[in-house]
Amino acid sequence: MSYVIKLRRFVSLTLLIAWVVTGVTGTLLLISGLVARLGHRIPPIVPDIHTYAGFVALGISVIHLALNWNALKSYVARPKTARK
Ligand code: HEM
Repeated sequence: MSYVIKLRRFVSLTLLIAWVVTGVTGTLLLISGLVARLGHRIPPIVPDIHTYAGFVALGISVIHLALNWNALKSYVARPKTARK
């Protein structure tokens, strides 16, 4: 497997994990008031995990876009046959 394909795989998987962690912790932050009313407490590390995972996800998104730029361009380009 070529170096670029390995890198693309690693970046895509890390991106997925980072967005899932950001989404889950963000949802926990959103419902923290409700959770508190039910007598529970969200661990104080959750906002920190959310912030770090969020910035990692944002940064890796840029690398992911760069690695898949040609594919992305082809999705938005007009088909050659439609050009005059
Ligand atoms: C899946 C996407 C995301 C969701 C659902 C989400 C949701 C939330 C929610 C509900 C809060 C709590 C807001 C409050 O208490 O007023 C929060 C806080 C925060 N979010 Fe996100 N967020 C997301 C993505 C991000 C990203 C990409 C970043 C960083 C680039 C980020 C950085 C932060 C920070 C710094 C806080 C404040 C944390 C604290 O209380 O110390 N979030 N987010």
